[in-house]
Amino acid sequence: MNRTESKARDDGGALLEVRGLTVTFGTPRGDVDVVRDLSFTVDRRQTLGIVGESGSGKSMTSLAVMGLLPKGATASGSIRLDGVEILGKSDAALRKLRGNSMAMVFQDPLSSLNPYYTVGLQITEAYRAHHNVSRKAARAVAIEALDRVRIKDPHLRIDHYPHQFSGGMRQRIMIAIALCCEPDLVIADEPTTALDVTVQAQILELMADLQAETGTGMIFITHDLAVVSQVAQDVVVMNGGVQVEAGSTEQIFSAPQHDYTRALLAAIPRLDDDLEELKMVGDFRTGATR
Ligand SMILES: Nc1ncnc2c1ncn2[C@@H]1O[C@H](COP(=O)(O)OP(=O)(O)O)[C@@H](O)[C@H]1O
Ligand SMILES: [Mg+2]
Repeated sequence: MNRTESKARDDGGALLEVRGLTVTFGTPRGDVDVVRDLSFTVDRRQTLGIVGESGSGKSMTSLAVMGLLPKGATASGSIRLDGVEILGKSDAALRKLRGNSMAMVFQDPLSSLNPYYTVGLQITEAYRAHHNVSRKAARAVAIEALDRVRIKDPHLRIDHYPHQFSGGMRQRIMIAIALCCEPDLVIADEPTTALDVTVQAQILELMADLQAETGTGMIFITHDLAVVSQVAQDVVVMNGGVQVEAGSTEQIFSAPQHDYTRALLAAIPRLDDDLEELKMVGDFRTGATR
């Protein structure tokens, strides 16, 4: 495998360009836009953080990009991957892109991994879905993939089952699966939310390292602005399905323009905070209706 050769044409154009994305659910009481007129760009070698409270439309945004929206939801607007419009592509065409050109890491590795198969089989299946190679060759790729996410003794661990790994190690395996086909774009949707803080810090460090090594464009979704500051160069802040503000991570942290962003910043717990003093974002909002 040639890791320096990207599948995407590096012609200066954006890797992912989302314009006016709206995601609508048809409900008995009419249509509801859960994402409205959202626009952002992800460049190669860039990590974009999308941050917002639970229910702000982060997951629906990522599922729309992946072509994985649940039944009842429709997307409109434009999603261009490497210059090609992918919104409205057929299921077959999207399946070809998923895993190969774009891959996703979800919050809960336990529900994404199959407990009955070894992790090695699950990585090789993901690889062989897009590459016509022998089991033996795919096994070598899987060992390399485990090694890349810093799992020790990958040649032994490859034959272990998911329950033989800790939560943090399982998330490493999900990252290995996402990266095995060297996608141009990785979307990580709250990948560390289910992990304790020490393990979370290790996974964040790993993702930042891998992003620097592979040059993959990445969208990192989280409700936690502190997490974003560790991995993302640029941030989109979402609330109620719309963009509240966007800018470089530095700008957002040093000079937030919007009350909602300031509230998210103030909700970041500090070591010297008393537990009783930990605040919810809603506490900071005036006239909040939700
Ligand atoms: N099947 C559904 N039908 C109607 N609304 C839904 C459905 N699934 C999710 N939603 C709504 O879409 C909104 C955005 O959800 P989501 O993107 O999952 O938020 P986030 O990932 O930011 O927590 C939420 O308000 C949620 O209630
Ligand atoms: Mg979500």
